[in-house]
Amino acid sequence: MSTGPEVRVRAPGKINLALRVGPPDGDGYHPLATVFQAVSLHEDVIAAPALDLRLTVEGPDADRVPLDDSNLALRAARLLQERTGITAGAHLHIVKQVPVAGGMGGGSADAAAALLACDQLWGAGLDRTELVALARELGADVPFALTGLTAVGSGRGDVLTSAMVSGTYHWVLAVQDVGLSTPEVFAAFDDDGGRAAPAPHLDDALLAALRAGDPHEVARHLVNDLEGPALDLRPELRDVLAAADRAGALAAVLSGSGPTVAALAVDERHARSVAAVVREAEVARDVLVVSGPAPGARVLEHVSGG
Ligand code: C5P
Repeated sequence: MSTGPEVRVRAPGKINLALRVGPPDGDGYHPLATVFQAVSLHEDVIAAPALDLRLTVEGPDADRVPLDDSNLALRAARLLQERTGITAGAHLHIVKQVPVAGGMGGGSADAAAALLACDQLWGAGLDRTELVALARELGADVPFALTGLTAVGSGRGDVLTSAMVSGTYHWVLAVQDVGLSTPEVFAAFDDDGGRAAPAPHLDDALLAALRAGDPHEVARHLVNDLEGPALDLRPELRDVLAAADRAGALAAVLSGSGPTVAALAVDERHARSVAAVVREAEVARDVLVVSGPAPGARVLEHVSGG
């Protein structure tokens, strides 16, 4: 039983509406021009007082989450300890919805949620700017999980500008059983001619369509430079894209480095009908209906227990 306050923080998974990738820099990282949208599939991190740092996970993919020091939520808590000099521990419990290695930033959401939860639990009192700076050290997608909604990412995807968006977008997600490794997909991009890629550039038409709240127009501008390399590594993803197309989705695109495919629908009812057809095609482990934009990491409960 917990004896102190417990903090529950929710952070969203994301899809990339556009992901343009430039040639790798000296560190092997790629300059990106991307539009992130946070969606209603999320990670909850519950932080409870403990003498040291420990981690437990629940959810359909729980057995695939590393519990050692490579776990991004633990690294986030440790980074906060180091930077603030706080020696208190925490038991972090992750309730996981976002697929592991799915291209939806699940691990990044865990890290963002853990940062905010530990900040609250320990009374560290960091402001948003300080949290974003720590988030950036943990991974390129972590700052976006803190800020949420819809944003343009540049740099390595970690330099964010919020995007103006009208309306709600309804997405069908086709989730795969076996994840894809982000470094492997970027390496395939490099081998596919990516080393000579031009500097990444976003088409203004996507941002205009988002401002106008027009899903048909947004659909025309969904793009992902990692889709080709991911399809080379996992040819059967073509069947997923084709199933979404046959099901009448406005368009479908690989999310991030995949393998999750996101298909855009006109409204929620349409999304449900697209999802039913994609499900029947048996090309995915799970077919989910979500919406965006969703808020960034936020505290849900801060309960004094005993
Ligand atoms: O930043 P993060 O740890 O999430 O990135 C995981 C891996 O993805 C990196 O090690 C790198 O191989 C690749 N990556 C990249 N360029 C980016 C972001 C990630 O090459 N902008």
